[in-house]
Formats: sequence, structure tokens, C-alpha cells
Amino acid sequence: MRYTRASVPEDQRYLASTAVIMSEVIKTLVCLGVLYSVPPLHRRSVSRLSTFLHHELVVKWRESSKLAFPAVLYLIQNNLQYVAATNLDAATFQVTYQLKILTTAFFSVVILHKPLSRLKWAALGLLTIGIALVVMPKDAVSWTGIFSYFTSSSQVVPSSVTTDDTLGNQSNAQGFFAVLMACVLSGLAGVYFEKILKSPSKPTPTNVEGSGSNTDIEGKMMVVEDPFQDDYSQAQLWVRNIQMSFFSVLLGMIFVVLLQDGATIAERGFFVNYNVLTWCVIGIQAFGGLIVALVVKYADNILKGFATSISIILSSLLSVFLFGFSITGTFVLGAAFVIYATYLYGL
Ligand code: C5P
Repeated sequence: MRYTRASVPEDQRYLASTAVIMSEVIKTLVCLGVLYSVPPLHRRSVSRLSTFLHHELVVKWRESSKLAFPAVLYLIQNNLQYVAATNLDAATFQVTYQLKILTTAFFSVVILHKPLSRLKWAALGLLTIGIALVVMPKDAVSWTGIFSYFTSSSQVVPSSVTTDDTLGNQSNAQGFFAVLMACVLSGLAGVYFEKILKSPSKPTPTNVEGSGSNTDIEGKMMVVEDPFQDDYSQAQLWVRNIQMSFFSVLLGMIFVVLLQDGATIAERGFFVNYNVLTWCVIGIQAFGGLIVALVVKYADNILKGFATSISIILSSLLSVFLFGFSITGTFVLGAAFVIYATYLYGL
């Protein structure tokens, strides 16, 4: 993402807003493909799949609408990721983004009422220190140094940044603000999605006869089992993702694509400056998102944080080859703290 944003001048960049929309479209297509091809839901029948989707998306519109909230949060988060990747070098962005482990833990305690032991809180503290070390400016001998780093465009070189700086215009303050906001949104959206996914779905009150009231002979209200109850538990994750993508595309098209980039799109088209690499970034974001959904379903958001810590190492190694990134002592120490914190938390 960093490479596609920073290696070209601003007027030759693709629009991040349309890239976010395209990721959502790809996710929806994959989810539909999974729903269509995994038995026993539909037995490879399009009409059965469309009846099921109509039931889940339209009939149960109240449940669908719950997904609008995480969809908005993820929409903003996904756009902020592009802002951060444009303004921060890849490794600094990646490591700072690990602060989402902290925000996720916070929201897990508050929203899901998950208790956290002292060891876990200590691990989270260590994680924060590690991240601070990684992003610390090289010559931060005084607060003035730190202040000028955050307020200027690359006048002071952070420990992790080298020639990646020369790739494009950087605004450290803007990049850090974007990544910190993305962390808060990631934590809140992830935990909220987990709550929706893991709360049992209520059976739908159904009118058995198809008309009249839902009462039996004695006049009592009847709640009939949801006809798709069995299928639902199998398909829930994919349905939830389709619902979320629907809101992301709808709101993203109105508020981000049209309002923010409407003039550029009218003049130069929706896919302006797209190339193969742009599609790679979109694909990685889409499949990464679906993996996040699977991890949240089968593990949880905090565990997801540990897994992504490994991405720091990969991101740093890739940066060495792609950007001539030189790994400094402070960076190694900070990254080691982050990884050790991940391990401690896992204990
Ligand atoms: O871990 P992080 O919060 O960065 O991952 C969030 C990403 O996963 C976002 O791009 C979001 O759109 C995607 N996601 C998804 N489906 C979910 C949950 C998250 O596509 N159910």
C-alpha cells in the first residue's frame, strides 16, 4: 500500500476512496461464492441462495441494520489506512498500528466484559513502550526534537525511516493522527462485530398460515422456528460480511467517493490511475478483511492482535528490500518488546 501511494506523484495516484469500495465489492463476491458453493446451504441452487439472502437481508432487516455501525467504522478506518500509508513509512505505520491491540483490549473489557489479568495488562503496557521505541525520532534527545518530528514533514528522521522518506511527500503529524484514529476504530468495530457474531440469533416470529395473526387455537402467540435456522449458523459469517459490505459501499459511495472525489471522478473516471499493483493492494485488503472475519469468529479480536504482530517482522523485512529501509538498534529493541509483549499476553 505504501509503495503504490508514495512511489508516484500525487496527481498520478489512484483514489483511495474507490479502492476501499472495490475491496468491499470483491469481499461481497467472495462471500456470495462461498455461500453458493459450500454445502449444505443451497445445494448449488441459485434460487435457494436468493431466497436465503432475501430472508437474511430484507426480511430480517432489523438484524441487517445492526451491521451499519461497524460498517461505518470500518469504512472510515479503511480510508484512514491509506492516509497513514501515504504519510508514514511502511514499518512505522505497521508498528504504530499495533496500538490497536490496546484499543481492542479496552473495548473487549468495556463491551464484551472480558476480564483481563494483571499479566495481560503488563503485556499491553510493554507493547505500548515497544511501539514508542520503534517510532521514536533518532535524535530525540529533547522534547523539542520530538515536538519538531511530529509537527514537521520529515525534518527529523525517526529511527525507522531511511530512504522510504524520499518516496513521497510525508506529513508525520497527519500520518500519526490517521493511524491513531484507525486504531480506535479498529478496536471498536472489531469488538462490536464480535459481539454481533457471537450473540445467538433470535428465532423469527412467523405467521404459519401466511395470513391472520400468529396465534394458536388457544389464542397464544406462537414463535415458529426460523426456516433457515440450520443453514444460518453455517452461513452467518458470510451473510454478516455481505451486510457490512452493503452499508460500506452505500455510505462510501455517497460520503467518500461522491462528496470527496466526485469532481475528479467526473473528469477522469472511477478507476483513474489504477494499475496491476493497485489491484494487488485492493485484493490484499479484501482477503485480509475476510481473514479478519474468520479469526474473529473462530478466535477473538485480542488474539488477532498477536497474530498481526508477526506482520511487523515481515513488514520490516520487506521494507529492507522495497525501500532500502535500514533497521536501527532502537527499532530492533522496540520490535522485540512488541513481540515479547505478544508472547506474554498469550501466556
Ligand atoms: O485488524 P484490523 O482492524 O486492521 O482489520 C480490519 C479490516 O478487516 C478492515 O479492512 C475491515 O474492513 C475488514 N473486516 C472485514 N470483515 C469483518 C471484519 C473486518 O472485512 N467481519
